[in-house]
Amino acid sequence: MPMNKQQVINILINEVSVPNKEFGSAFASTNIALCKYWGKRNAELNLPMTSSLSISLGHLGACTKIGFAAGTTDQYILNNAAVSENTVFYRRLVEFLDLFRPTADTVFSVTTQTNIPVAAGLASSACGFAALVKAMQDLFAWPLSLEQLSILARLGSGSASRSFWDGFVQWDAGVREDGMDSFAYSLEQEWSELRVGLLHIDNKPKGFSSREAMQATVETSPFYKLWPQTVANALTVTKQAIIDRDFWSLGSTAEANALAMHALMLSTTPAIVYTQGATLDCMRQVWCARAEGLNLFFTQDAGPNLKLLFLSKDEAKVKELFAQVEIVAPFATITKPVECIHD
Ligand code: PMV
Repeated sequence: MPMNKQQVINILINEVSVPNKEFGSAFASTNIALCKYWGKRNAELNLPMTSSLSISLGHLGACTKIGFAAGTTDQYILNNAAVSENTVFYRRLVEFLDLFRPTADTVFSVTTQTNIPVAAGLASSACGFAALVKAMQDLFAWPLSLEQLSILARLGSGSASRSFWDGFVQWDAGVREDGMDSFAYSLEQEWSELRVGLLHIDNKPKGFSSREAMQATVETSPFYKLWPQTVANALTVTKQAIIDRDFWSLGSTAEANALAMHALMLSTTPAIVYTQGATLDCMRQVWCARAEGLNLFFTQDAGPNLKLLFLSKDEAKVKELFAQVEIVAPFATITKPVECIHD
């Protein structure tokens, strides 16, 4: 019998969780995949078909505070507004909290502040579930390692498993049915000159979730069978590029991997298209700049926004090209957003 989420949690947290304090709080950086996770081998446990590799975005992410509330339903405040009970967002949170209630009548109060747009392909669910798991660990004082917390966060959202470390992070697909070998870890490599530029093209929440989209791709794209080998090759090349500080190799592999993922979506029935006209215009600008000698690449997730990849020496040129770009230095010392200083 395949395992469910609760059974996995019971392996990791074998004693009834007793709160350690009044509330727990934590910050988690968001992460952007350079070699993407697209497709699950087990939808219940969010076990991926392939391993993936990401870069964390330092001060950009989510700060979550969790405590207890009176009443009968969980309270969820996101970016200073109460989230209504009949939204998908609320239901996803409550479903996840259900797995951790010390008693059936425990009611939680969750407050999350993000400094990235929510559900716009900027990995808000990654930092959201990671910050929630870290805040729960603070509340319940679970004696768990970061790898074990990564497994718990994966049960909320796959990419959240990678949001427990700074810098380059790999999430292993694993082979076990219970997913105990499918967690992330730091590659322990620094590349201080590396920059990520966020191009906010459209920050409205996307029409369909990555969860639905990747499932449809696996089920209907005739090309999905090529994806596992494509990602495996990209992972090998990217890890070597990081070791060699070979930016051209890292950037070109990341861009090709993102485009391959979107090509899979185009070949899904019905087609899934996150790219907008403005996204394509920006891609063309990147390609033109590159043809003129600028070392600039992009990656794209389940949304229309692009993330540019370049080196610090080219910051001025990138700003000239894209005035609206928000530049992140992933290896700079993290200054947590002010609202997170209670963490
Ligand atoms: O973890 P999810 O369900 O939000 O899926 C993330 C999918 C991508 O962002 C497109 C790729 C990735 O590896 O983060």
